[in-house]
Amino acid sequence: MDNVTAKVARQYTDYAYPPPFDDLDERLARGQVDASDPRVFGPMFLPEGRPEGEGLRILSAGCGTVQAAVLAHSNPDALVVGVDLSDASLGHQRYLREKFDLKNLELFQGDLSDVGRLEREFDLIACTGVLHHMADPDAGLRALGSVLAPQGAMFLMVYAPVGRTGVYLLQDAFRRIGLGQTPEDVALVRAVLAGTPASHPVQDYRRRAEEELEHDSGIVDSFLHPQDRAYSVDELLDWVERTGLGFQGWLENLFHYPDALISPAILPRIAALSTREQWAVVEKMVGMPSTHCFIARRPDAVHEVSFEGEDWLRYRPYRFPMADIKYEPDAGYRIHCAGAQFVVNQHEAILFTWGDGARTIAAMLAEEPFSAFPEADRREFARAHFNRMWRLGLMMFQR
Ligand SMILES: C[S@@+](CC[C@H](N)C(=O)[O-])C[C@H]1O[C@@H](n2cnc3c(N)ncnc32)[C@H](O)[C@@H]1O
Repeated sequence: MDNVTAKVARQYTDYAYPPPFDDLDERLARGQVDASDPRVFGPMFLPEGRPEGEGLRILSAGCGTVQAAVLAHSNPDALVVGVDLSDASLGHQRYLREKFDLKNLELFQGDLSDVGRLEREFDLIACTGVLHHMADPDAGLRALGSVLAPQGAMFLMVYAPVGRTGVYLLQDAFRRIGLGQTPEDVALVRAVLAGTPASHPVQDYRRRAEEELEHDSGIVDSFLHPQDRAYSVDELLDWVERTGLGFQGWLENLFHYPDALISPAILPRIAALSTREQWAVVEKMVGMPSTHCFIARRPDAVHEVSFEGEDWLRYRPYRFPMADIKYEPDAGYRIHCAGAQFVVNQHEAILFTWGDGARTIAAMLAEEPFSAFPEADRREFARAHFNRMWRLGLMMFQR
């Protein structure tokens, strides 16, 4: 084990992460979902449709204290394999396996760089909050790519630099002072945070991570980590390409396309850029989020959701899990998601509420009230509406 991996393993043994919870049902009932759960976000991972027959084979690489068990519990027809360096974290996963009788969960202690030794292939690989802690994230991503099934998908989360600016300032300061991971040093970090001026860039991060920073493991993970890097949009796309993979898309388009969060005055100028450049501009103009959640696949398996041509009529639309629609007599219909809201008209509202994955777009348009309109008109209306819903991250699409 190299020096960095040994330090990382020690940290997650002393401070298992995330702070463990033990009631999976209660969490689900509260609507708290794991972003890598295919039961919830499956259309984002496999827009071309799920493989027929057997359940998914899922790898949770760097599974931490709960992720593999959460996925096994939520997807009883899947086989879930969890791998982690930290036996303390795996100990909690074993506890959950027993408590919830998860016969579909296998756990292994080890470095994800060696995952090839399992001699398995996976339809979905979840690796969230892990690769940016490796000495060689390229080797880590390549190792995951080597066990990805030909039509499989990877759901990855790595840190983004802009939303973590304040975290990196403090990490650097604490490193210079020589703070380690002792309880005394954790207490010193808390004292510094409590006295940090309101103008410090860390304050926004503190608000967003409030719950996790109540735990010592959250303080250590954020501010005293021995190995932590972030990827800008440009760096991330280069990284995926360099490791022989293809970039399929983001989990939350709302934060990456310019449509929602940027002044309409500049949108025509941004629209003239390539999609990749648009994402890079949005990252700098919006200044958030602090992580990038995205899907990578083998280049020939990448399926980009598109509303060109005719194939989009075969998509089944799903409302994005965090999106909700409300009607108010004065304000009309509004779709709410992640603190933003979007006005829709009555017909758009109908198409949104029908988005439960049961019908294709073609089937929706064959029903009232849409069937009353000339075919070309209803198609153009639906194409524009669903394309907008996609770019705003309010709907998902699957064949
Ligand atoms: C921040 S936690 C994330 C846990 C989990 N993926 C989640 O999202 O809840 C990072 C986890 O990755 C594990 N880890 C870090 N580097 C690893 C490696 N090279 N191989 C396997 N696990 C690793 C750590 O032990 C820790 O449990």
